[in-house]
Amino acid sequence: MSPSLHRDGRADVTVLISGRGSNLSALIDATRDPAYPAHITHVISNRPEAGGLEIARAAGIATSVVDHKQFSGRAAFEAALEGTIARRRADVICLAGFMRLLSAAFVNHFRGRIINIHPSLLPAFKGLKTHAQALAAGATEHGCTVHFVEPDMDAGPIIAQARVPVLPGDDEVTLEQRVLEAEHALYPRALKLVAEGAARYENGRTIFSV
Ligand code: GAR
Repeated sequence: MSPSLHRDGRADVTVLISGRGSNLSALIDATRDPAYPAHITHVISNRPEAGGLEIARAAGIATSVVDHKQFSGRAAFEAALEGTIARRRADVICLAGFMRLLSAAFVNHFRGRIINIHPSLLPAFKGLKTHAQALAAGATEHGCTVHFVEPDMDAGPIIAQARVPVLPGDDEVTLEQRVLEAEHALYPRALKLVAEGAARYENGRTIFSV
C-alpha cells in the first residue's frame, strides 16, 4: 500500500520513539523548512521517561505515551499503540530509536508507510550493539540505513544509506557518534523521498521515481 500523501502539500508524520530522540530532533529541524514535504504531528513513546518527549513538547508537537509495561502482552500493547496512532492522521510513521519488536500483524497494517532507521549498513549487523558488531567483524566501513519496515526484524526494502569509515582506534563510543551524525542527515533525506512520493513501497521493493 502506498500512503496517500500531499494533503496541503505536506505529509502528516507520526514518530515513534523510546529514548533520547536525537533523530526525532533532526527530523523536527528538517520540517521547519516550509518547503519540506512533511510535518510531524504526533510523537509517541513506549517509555514515559524518554528524553525525546521533551524535545517534541518544546517544538509544540502533540505527544502520547503507550507504556508497554502497562499491558499484559504484545497484542494488547500493539492494540493500544494502533489506537493511539489512529487519533491523528498519519501518512507516514517513522520509527526513530523505537526499541520494541513489532508483530507481523501490526507491520502489515501499516506496510508501505512505516519506515525505520537502523545504525548499520543493512543487511549487515542487524539487531542490537551494531557498532560493537562492526568493530568485532573488523569492518572498515559502517553506517546507517533507512528502510521500509517488514515483519522480520531490521528487514525491508532500503530507501537510503549513509557510509562512514571505521578509523584506527575507534571504540563503540567514537563509532556511534560518527554514525549518529550520519543518521541525522540521512533520516530527513529519506523521509523527504517517501513524503514526496519519490520512494514508495511496492511488493517488497522500493520503487524510486525521478
Ligand atoms: C539510533 O542510533 C537509531 O538508529 C537506533 O537507536 C538510536 C536512537 O537514538 N535504532 C535502533 O537501533 C533500532 N533498531 P535517538 O533516540 O537519539 O534517535
